[in-house]
Amino acid sequence: MKSRNNDPQGGRPKHDEPEIVVGLDIGTTKVTAVVGEVDDGIITILGVGDVPCRGLRKGVVSNIDWTVRSIRDAIEAAQQMAGVEIRTVYAGVAGSHIRCQPSDGVAAVSGGEVQKGDVDRVLEGARAIPVDADRQILHVLPREFIVDNQDGIRDPIGMSGVRLQAKVNLITAATSCVQNVIRCAERCGLTVADVVLEPLASAEAILSEDEKEIGVAIIDIGGGTTDLLLCVDGGIAHTSVIPAGGNNITSDIAAGLRTPVAEAERLKRNFGCALGRMVSDEDEVEVPGVGGHPPRRVARRVLSDIIEPRVEEIFAVVRKRIEDTGLLEQLSAGAVLTGGAVLMEGMPEFAEEILGMPVRLGYPIGIGGITQLVQGPRYATGVGLVKYGAEAIRNARRVKALQAPAHSLRSSRELEEPPRSGGGSSHAGGTRKPPPKPSGNRFWNWLRAAF
Ligand SMILES: Nc1ncnc2c1ncn2[C@@H]1O[C@H](COP(=O)(O)OP(=O)(O)OP(=O)(O)O)[C@@H](O)[C@H]1O
Ligand SMILES: [Mg+2]
Repeated sequence: MKSRNNDPQGGRPKHDEPEIVVGLDIGTTKVTAVVGEVDDGIITILGVGDVPCRGLRKGVVSNIDWTVRSIRDAIEAAQQMAGVEIRTVYAGVAGSHIRCQPSDGVAAVSGGEVQKGDVDRVLEGARAIPVDADRQILHVLPREFIVDNQDGIRDPIGMSGVRLQAKVNLITAATSCVQNVIRCAERCGLTVADVVLEPLASAEAILSEDEKEIGVAIIDIGGGTTDLLLCVDGGIAHTSVIPAGGNNITSDIAAGLRTPVAEAERLKRNFGCALGRMVSDEDEVEVPGVGGHPPRRVARRVLSDIIEPRVEEIFAVVRKRIEDTGLLEQLSAGAVLTGGAVLMEGMPEFAEEILGMPVRLGYPIGIGGITQLVQGPRYATGVGLVKYGAEAIRNARRVKALQAPAHSLRSSRELEEPPRSGGGSSHAGGTRKPPPKPSGNRFWNWLRAAF
């Protein structure tokens, strides 16, 4: 193994050296470790470790030892493939304990022009609300900023004003669930750089900037849970978790066809279809019996008739959740399905019918390297965690550059901002910069910077 490691705290990497970033998706059915090399914003996938896991129930760690074993195996496999030593990971968290609640904050603008420090303070104020003692804030997601009386601002930096207000969504999680994820990783000798809401990571991996901009729903149907995330106007408007997923479909098949769970899982993956009418009446499948009963041949349509009501139930709850937010009309890009369970035939068609919007399958995008290893929807969270980590490192470097002495501060800004025509700066000429034109990309970067 090469001596490279991915410990950003080690002080090794110089300002612009490539960085190894590892995403650790601890799911109900599997643990996936994705190793990416980030060089100047370009992510190259170097390796993946993907092992089954039985240590979680509905997205939450329920058996530490089993989870630790799976994490260890996944990390080991990823290290082997990537040829790097993994020390630090960005870990995902999910489950029904996740809550999303609105909040807001206000701050005086020091110096008449909004600076990053003002935004930090207003977001700090927005998170200063009472949270139950057994819960913690995971993310502060800005929905909009208001400068004096002008609302609907996405990126307030550089705007003139005396009063800055932020409307945000706070994502909170049960502290014990987050701590269990961290404990499992630490027992494998890993440092958790950050704990990230899984559907947020998936969004990083599968959405285009256009979709975030015009409104889109992400529906991640995993083994234990279905995670819903709504992006509207470039920001996160809602997230919630439905405690049902692919494992429920498997259990329904096992009970309905009286076959072992492992066989039900195999039948689902090989012959399952979410929409009964898409299946020919002639097709048959062989169903192994339980308790010594011989196998029998069953119409494939019967298998679909067992699957369909469960899938319908999941999408109906998704639809109701979206309606309850009042954002249905704002999801112009429709919905993107991800998670392993959406690989079943008929899923996008059925989702389109129930949700009444265009639906596509979500595959990780915007990466290079051995992408064929992470091409499926079930890798969206792992790849998204790498992208999230890459962005976090980029923002940390940016802050460091801003804190550097004046001459290097100027050069780092020159690197980041395109040269402005007309020359004079706000400080030199005494005039304020015009408010920057809102841009989806910049706002999305802001959102990530604020996590
Ligand atoms: N080809 C397939 N057809 C149907 N279902 C599939 C297929 N491949 C995987 N699945 C299902 O996908 C589910 C696992 O998906 P995924 O790996 O996204 O879940 P997870 O991340 O482990 O769980 P969660 O996100 O709920 O904690 C399982 O229920 C599995 O049966
Ligand atoms: Mg998952």
